[in-house]
Amino acid sequence: MKKPLVAPSILAANFANLEREVKMLNASEADWIHVDIMDGVFVSNISFGLPVVEAINKHSTKPLDVHLMIVQPEKYVEAFFKAGAELISVHLEACPHLHRNIQQIKSFGIKAGVAINPHTPASALSEIIADIDLVCVMSVNPGFGGQKFIENTYSKVKEIKQLIIDKKSNALIEIDGGVNQQNASALLQAGADVLVAGNFVFSSGNPHETIQRLKATQ
Ligand code: DX5
Ligand code: ZN
Repeated sequence: MKKPLVAPSILAANFANLEREVKMLNASEADWIHVDIMDGVFVSNISFGLPVVEAINKHSTKPLDVHLMIVQPEKYVEAFFKAGAELISVHLEACPHLHRNIQQIKSFGIKAGVAINPHTPASALSEIIADIDLVCVMSVNPGFGGQKFIENTYSKVKEIKQLIIDKKSNALIEIDGGVNQQNASALLQAGADVLVAGNFVFSSGNPHETIQRLKATQ
């Protein structure tokens, strides 16, 4: 099986030492840095905003994978692009004009993703899957790191994989929430391409090695 892309979630990093954390990721086998933006409206938590993303980008040699858990993302897409995002995902549940949101993201020459909450069925992606670069499958309810992985994710990933084949889409499947070494292999078998991991990486004794082990998942 091909190696997964690994995207550590900076939400779980030590914010008082962001430069050091980003440099640790630079030196690791991480493929992307996953950046969680929470607005306190779409989700009940507030994470951080544009100046922090700019600061991460200043030190990062890895692409920034920005996950917008915000309402009206169209107001901020350009600003996140300017702050360094190379991939921006918006939530299907927050976007009544999702196709327009995707067009807007792509107009900046970057990759566009759609994130779906645990209750949103795979079929909700059928008319957008051919237009996007990534599906971010939430395997916890968005808003907080360190939550328990929802087991129903495996079957949903399989359904999305089939949809991608049926619609001749190039979208990657990213899994976000509660990912660890126990579920990584089954997720890849179900069709996942990208593993986001926050607490599993940053709370481990040796994040560098934890990333390496996730990357080597078979
Ligand atoms: C949850 C965020 C996740 C989170 C993952 O709302 O979207 O990206 O940082 O953290 P862990 O891996 O700790 O569940
Ligand atoms: Zn996320």
